[in-house]
Amino acid sequence: MEHMSKQEEELFHLARVAFTGRVQDVALLVRKYARRYRDSSPEFAKSLTDLLRKNPTRSDPTRRVETSGLPLDGDSRLPLIRVNEVPVLEMEPVYDTRTWSALRQVVRERKQIDKLAEAGVDPTRTMLFTGPPGVGKTLAAKWIAREIGKPLAVLDLSSVMSSFLGRTGNNIRAVLDYAKDHDCVLLLDELDAVAKRRNDTGEIGELKRLVNVILQEIDEWPPSGLLLAATNHADLLDSAVWRRFELVTEFPLPQADGLEAVLKNHLELDSDSSWPAVLSSALVGSSHSDAYQLACQARRVAVLEEADLEIGLQQTMGNIVADLSRAGRQKFAISLVEGNLLSQRQSSELTGVSRDTIRKHIHSPGGN
Ligand SMILES: Nc1ncnc2c1ncn2[C@@H]1O[C@H](COP(=O)(O)OP(=O)(O)O)[C@@H](O)[C@H]1O
Ligand SMILES: [Mg+2]
Repeated sequence: MEHMSKQEEELFHLARVAFTGRVQDVALLVRKYARRYRDSSPEFAKSLTDLLRKNPTRSDPTRRVETSGLPLDGDSRLPLIRVNEVPVLEMEPVYDTRTWSALRQVVRERKQIDKLAEAGVDPTRTMLFTGPPGVGKTLAAKWIAREIGKPLAVLDLSSVMSSFLGRTGNNIRAVLDYAKDHDCVLLLDELDAVAKRRNDTGEIGELKRLVNVILQEIDEWPPSGLLLAATNHADLLDSAVWRRFELVTEFPLPQADGLEAVLKNHLELDSDSSWPAVLSSALVGSSHSDAYQLACQARRVAVLEEADLEIGLQQTMGNIVADLSRAGRQKFAISLVEGNLLSQRQSSELTGVSRDTIRKHIHSPGGN
């Protein structure tokens, strides 16, 4: 432990106590920290005491969720929803300004709910996220729940669509009732799963009833709760569904700067490294998740090869190259050399673009 700073030591200790699950002990420590920081960092100390005052052991909704039974599937007796007590994000999300402003707005409303109530205005109750897979729609729900400090209940409609629609309806109703009774954020994930069944003509009647159950719930959702829904196939949802949501937020594929930010977050490179910028230009058209996966893979390769991350990246680049057009490949080959990431020879080998072509186009020779 000698190598730990005082703060690291405390954090470590807190983590260890937290793992024992004894909330009283955690509270004790937090109280101690609040006292310690009262003079040097009054705002921080106040946030800690606020936390304590909310008394997470008894009155906090996160506690209620944990102790009350989750709705179960009638047959399998497995829980129908996942509940994230206080969601922990595996990463900080990266969105464009428009998406961010919509997300921040709902959080702001929830944080200042008293102010809205005084004016007799309800906060946004229902919100639909649309966009291709892997752009952070599910992540956004976690982010919102974390920001407003509520548990997130997730109902994945693609997994709850049972072969018996009647049962599916019961299951969905059970989950919605549960969410209305508990102070949580509810995410109906993969909402299009319901719509997808449309083509099966044999069950049109059942399905209509099911969709109606959901639509009615959306309409009647209480302002005290927040109902989020996400879909990868906005085109599959009929307009009746769209119209029910108070807010529809689009999650577009990221631009190069968004991809670069994701890569930067996950590749622990020097801040002046040009890898993220060069890779992100070549990745345009991919999702945040694709960029994240690329970073993970490069890191795995680097670890197993006991090599630098740069080597890991070189070995993972094949996937990017395969998806590029001829012109794109050429541009990528050149940027690798201009960014001083690879020699002309290496770049040529990895991208399949001839050295002649590379040499002809580069502005600053990056070695050979
Ligand atoms: N906007 C984003 N910012 C950072 N990481 C992201 C983003 N979008 C996706 N990811 C990464 O991809 C994973 C899957 O994203 P997810 O939220 O499930 O996408 P979606 O719900 O839109 O299909 C996330 O856990 C995260 O690792
Ligand atoms: Mg998702």
